[in-house]
Amino acid sequence: MPRAIIRRWILLILIIYELSLASGGQITSAPGRDVWQRPEEVMDAMRAHTGSTVADVGAGEGWFSLRLARRVGTTGGVYAVDINPKMIDFIRKWAANEKLSQVDPVLGAEDDPHLPAGKLDAILVVDSYHEMRKYDAMMRSFRRALKAGGRLVIIDSDDNPYQPREVYIERHTIPQELVRDDTARNGFRFVERRPDIITHDDDVWTFLIFEKPAQTPK
Ligand SMILES: C[S@@+](CC[C@H](N)C(=O)[O-])C[C@H]1O[C@@H](n2cnc3c(N)ncnc32)[C@H](O)[C@@H]1O
Repeated sequence: MPRAIIRRWILLILIIYELSLASGGQITSAPGRDVWQRPEEVMDAMRAHTGSTVADVGAGEGWFSLRLARRVGTTGGVYAVDINPKMIDFIRKWAANEKLSQVDPVLGAEDDPHLPAGKLDAILVVDSYHEMRKYDAMMRSFRRALKAGGRLVIIDSDDNPYQPREVYIERHTIPQELVRDDTARNGFRFVERRPDIITHDDDVWTFLIFEKPAQTPK
């Protein structure tokens, strides 16, 4: 096929994608995600319940933010954080369409999710931690944002350890050993490793639960 036609097709696809974002389109999801992702178990691991205040960091289109909003209800709150302004616009639109005023879309920075201090019961990071280049700064912000005893749940694609960090960013993976080192170094207590999540295309996502201890350094 001539290059000019291929370019036109790509342009058309991009325009359709932009329009769907602009109109507050449906949240896209990988096939069968409501089953393989085990969202109820993930939200239980966060101890999210009616009235909880939680954050979904690296929210993307907000697949989890929507489910968390339903779980915490109007007496709770969900900070849906992303560094991509398009994701934030997208979340703002579906939250308005669904009348979920408990969702607060937040444009984060690479080193700061811009969360309020000491207010959160739990933070969820799904398929996003591997993208966070300023991981220590992010961890410190998570710890600051959580109440004592608050939970941090990190779910991400596993890999073999001992490669330079850049390798994992390119592979969209993060060894669980690195996640555990990062959390320990930043004052989190490891709680539990839940059974791995096997995605629709057989990726293995490690499901790790951490806690901000009651007595923790600032
Ligand atoms: C693969 S998507 C995750 C989607 C979502 N968590 C889900 O489960 O559907 C990764 C997202 O992380 C975001 N991201 C990367 N670094 C970030 C950071 N430092 N703070 C917040 N979001 C970040 C990206 O913009 C992207 O939207």
